Amino acid sequence: MSDIERTLSIIKPDAVERNLFEKISDILKKNNLKIEKNKKLQISKEEAAEFYKEHQSKPFYERLCNYLSSGPIVVMELSGENAISKYRDIMGATDPKKAENNTIRQLYGISIDKNSVHGSDSKSSAKRELEFFFNN
Ligand code: CMP
Repeated sequence: MSDIERTLSIIKPDAVERNLFEKISDILKKNNLKIEKNKKLQISKEEAAEFYKEHQSKPFYERLCNYLSSGPIVVMELSGENAISKYRDIMGATDPKKAENNTIRQLYGISIDKNSVHGSDSKSSAKRELEFFFNN
């Protein structure tokens, strides 16, 4: 069943630093995901901690928050048919070493921390994450 959805994508500091915005947006466009909104910003460690609060019990939480706040990121609101699961497929597995060929993380990810991109994992997290960055 097709469903037009919106989802949040983050281009993480490692990928912004390597100027990968154009390459990643080409992949999105080829897969019929439209960039409705985008902005470049740097968030504080406290904001990163709030954004990733579902991971607060995980051993990597501190590292994750330090990393997301370590440099500029690009956040995007994407729309398209089944955008949430489609974007997760296009990103590939969290660990770039396990990601399928030609996914964003396989092509550009450096490590499980510096894995270049984030994407919402469900309708409820897409809603929360879009509100977090775009107040919509
Ligand atoms: P992301 O999709 O942004 O969601 C949480 C992030 O935590 C994940 O990508 C990884 O970059 C990072 N992370 C670090 N270690 C792990 C781990 N062992 N399992 C899952 N995510 C991890």
